[in-house]
Amino acid sequence: MSADPGHPAKAIDAARARSEHVLTGWLNRQHGVSAPLDDAMRYSVLGTGKRLRPVMVYLAGRALGADDEALDAPAAALELIHAYSLVHDDLPAMDDDDLRRGRPTVHRAFDEPLAILAGDALQTLAFEVLASRPHPRLAALVTILARAAGRDGMAAGQAIDLSAVGTPLDLASLQAMHQHKTGALIRAAVRLGALVAVDESDPRVAALDRYAAAIGLAFQIHDDVLDVTGDTRTLGKTSGADAQRDKPTYPALLGLERARERARELLEEALEALVPLGASGEPLAILARFMIDRDH
Ligand code: IPE
Ligand code: IPE
Ligand code: MG
Ligand code: MG
Ligand code: MG
Repeated sequence: MSADPGHPAKAIDAARARSEHVLTGWLNRQHGVSAPLDDAMRYSVLGTGKRLRPVMVYLAGRALGADDEALDAPAAALELIHAYSLVHDDLPAMDDDDLRRGRPTVHRAFDEPLAILAGDALQTLAFEVLASRPHPRLAALVTILARAAGRDGMAAGQAIDLSAVGTPLDLASLQAMHQHKTGALIRAAVRLGALVAVDESDPRVAALDRYAAAIGLAFQIHDDVLDVTGDTRTLGKTSGADAQRDKPTYPALLGLERARERARELLEEALEALVPLGASGEPLAILARFMIDRDH
């Protein structure tokens, strides 16, 4: 990585650090009524995590001219929704995982009721955080996040995922499942960042949406690939868990090589979509490459 502070890779590191700081502020700012619930929420969010979704909010917003101050709330909100989705995804009733981000999952470190409640409270905190800063398009921002998290987005994708265990999906259904369970929040991250800066009529919003749709799907395909090729220690979550649970995944349907190839094609699509942004899209291009090359 270059030592030049203007280098795009540095911009990504700075966005990640900034999102950590904002999240820590919100989670430590005030104590709720239940200390165990507060602890479980902090445990779920703080410490590790790649912070890709908040970084995307910052990079998309900055690319279109927004200030970091205006992006803090949507960036933190996205990570809170994501953290909630992981806590619930790991529950015994869902993927039943014991390890997340290199540590025991929330229901293992605390207990199952507290994990359910921590997820619930992280989800509502996300909207509290998003609404904490006035913005002329705030109602649109809230709607985008709500739809991406709920029955038109992540929750719907998770429902498809769970109902498909043991039943082979065809490629179109598998793609739709990934687009909902993972792609929707990634698209929302980019869209929120963009709409903090400009309104829908700016053609760069549509270009960024094409980028986000492609990289969002590629990201979940790569997650499926890592479940096969990664080791538990590097991943920070149990490798091989998808095959063990007969989960519908790209490697299971297409084989490892074709799954990898599909992720590469989508990466190219994402990079192509950034062309109209010129140099301002460079950090998003670096992030996209990282998302598909990462080992955890
Ligand atoms: C994991 O997401 C769940 C998926 C949607 C694939 P990340 O790989 O972004 O997880 P963290 O936040 O870095 O732990
Ligand atoms: C997760 O998909 C999608 C979410 C909405 C959390 P996975 O179940 O594959 O995520 P990991 O592998 O547990 O992180
Ligand atoms: Mg899952
Ligand atoms: Mg899982
Ligand atoms: Mg996975």
